[in-house]
Amino acid sequence: MGDGKFAGKTVLVGVAGGIAAYKVAGIVSRLRQVGADVHVIMSENAARFVTPLTFAALSGHPVHTDPFAPSAELAHVRLAGRADLVLVAPATADVLGKLAAGLAGDMLSTVLLAVGTRAPVVIAPAMNAGMWENPIVQRNVHTLREMGYRFVGPERGFLAEGYEGMGRLAGEEAILAALAEAADAAEAMEAAEATDVADAADAARSGLYGGAGRGGR
Ligand SMILES: Cc1cc2nc3c(=O)[nH]c(=O)nc-3n(C[C@H](O)[C@H](O)[C@H](O)COP(=O)(O)O)c2cc1C
Repeated sequence: MGDGKFAGKTVLVGVAGGIAAYKVAGIVSRLRQVGADVHVIMSENAARFVTPLTFAALSGHPVHTDPFAPSAELAHVRLAGRADLVLVAPATADVLGKLAAGLAGDMLSTVLLAVGTRAPVVIAPAMNAGMWENPIVQRNVHTLREMGYRFVGPERGFLAEGYEGMGRLAGEEAILAALAEAADAAEAMEAAEATDVADAADAARSGLYGGAGRGGR
């Protein structure tokens, strides 16, 4: 999975209330094993599927669910400011709708809105085929893609409803590969920006001093 990509990176993992929430425990564990500093934010509904204790133990940090918890003062701002990478998995139809509409009524949606696309955000949807194919959900996905959110999956396969269809959470390897790709893209963009700044400084210097560029005298 390009393990070195995650060492020392702060990765926020947003878990929403879908049946596939349990699968994300494995992803959190893998990220921590390769040196990422993983912080998990769960929606209140996600905590009905998997206990926050599981994610706290696997990530080594308390799990954030309630923006109004006594210890959570501005945690959404702190977390958003520290993120190098963000994964939302499973992304429910509900969380996609909230994000596309700019709603921030709970901890997960508030953090996602506070991060924006300042850090790369990889979204791994999982839901019933009917929900996934609903034009409203597809419109939300389209809106988010246009804004720079990255998607991985869903895949076609056996769904919790007991039949085959589109809507299964992408596999662990595919999700980790999408995160690694997002990390690469962010690094390439930072490098390009640094070059642009250096080039702009060169241009300014040559304007001021009549032609001495970077490394010039
Ligand atoms: C057993 C069960 C399984 C569910 N699985 C999914 C799912 O896989 N994907 C989804 O979008 N919603 C699923 N839902 C519906 C969501 O839990 C519901 O829309 C909820 O409001 C999502 O809240 P959240 O996005 O804040 O976590 C499921 C509900 C139940 C009761």
